[in-house]
Amino acid sequence: MIQLRYIISILLCALAGNALVVGRQTAGKLSQVTDFGDNPTNVGFYIYVPQNLASNPAIVVAIHYCTGTAQAYYTGSPYAQYAETYGFIVIYPESPYEGTCWDVSSQSTLTHDGGGNSNSIANMVTWTIDHYGADASRVYVTGTSSGAMMTNVMAATYPNLFAAGIAYAGVAAGCFYSEANGEDWWNSTCSQGQSIATPELWTQIAEDMYPGYTGDRPKMQIYHGSEDATLYPQNYYETCKQWAGVFGYDYNSPEEVQSDTPVANWDKTIWGPNVEGILANGVGHNILSNFAAYVIFGTPPEEYEGLIHSI
Ligand SMILES: *[C@@H]1O[C@H](CO)[C@@H](O)[C@H](O)[C@H]1NC(C)=O
Repeated sequence: MIQLRYIISILLCALAGNALVVGRQTAGKLSQVTDFGDNPTNVGFYIYVPQNLASNPAIVVAIHYCTGTAQAYYTGSPYAQYAETYGFIVIYPESPYEGTCWDVSSQSTLTHDGGGNSNSIANMVTWTIDHYGADASRVYVTGTSSGAMMTNVMAATYPNLFAAGIAYAGVAAGCFYSEANGEDWWNSTCSQGQSIATPELWTQIAEDMYPGYTGDRPKMQIYHGSEDATLYPQNYYETCKQWAGVFGYDYNSPEEVQSDTPVANWDKTIWGPNVEGILANGVGHNILSNFAAYVIFGTPPEEYEGLIHSI
């Protein structure tokens, strides 16, 4: 009996080939992937493959906040639901550190192929493209708080991988850098809005994370609450300076400011086709749940639909 089952399973393996391996990530369930390439800092890799998987699917990398987990972000954000609607795959990386913040402070994570957390997340993306025939030109990265910091770091270290990035309540890429303290360091100077620099300096900091890179870069959308007491709102302006600068826009003269967009009291500033900032007036640090409420209870705000429709 056991032998027969063994033979059948060998036959099935031979028939199904790679499909059987892929099948280990159960559709419609958050599943862990343990072997996806180099991962020296032990970042967890969880994936949501929708039951309604599109052919040549897009990928959304959704990065959790401090104290969060892949599971918590999976249940607490709307991406998996959208994945069922639109057929894309969601990657939920999980921080390996106590307290589950991301390493956005070490030289290794702030360097393309530097072996840090960013490198591991990039390897998850390439694994997913390979194993699911995903569309390399439609890979998006988003995150909240520490995950938004990591979103900015991913956009700077792997501009080649992403079509767009959306950061909810983060800090500029490199703002937590600490030569002395290395990995997973909480930089209060930055968090409290005291790391203030010119657009030129922020641009240089981002560009130095992948020296010599001249290809396309992800469009960026930066959300921040004006009452954020965890990552002070100054970080909104510093992050916008950085991406406006990277795209060669004049930070001091944006193209357009739209009040009450996408919702009442939120103001959108457009620096150019690739960089938008949304300052959520009256909103604190917990901006994503604020956002999710719109998504769940009403019509998704225009900008949220923008991400979904571009997928
Ligand atoms: C905090 O970050 C800033 C850059 O934003 C850096 O100049 C400073 O050295 C960092 N603080 C520590 C203690 O590493």
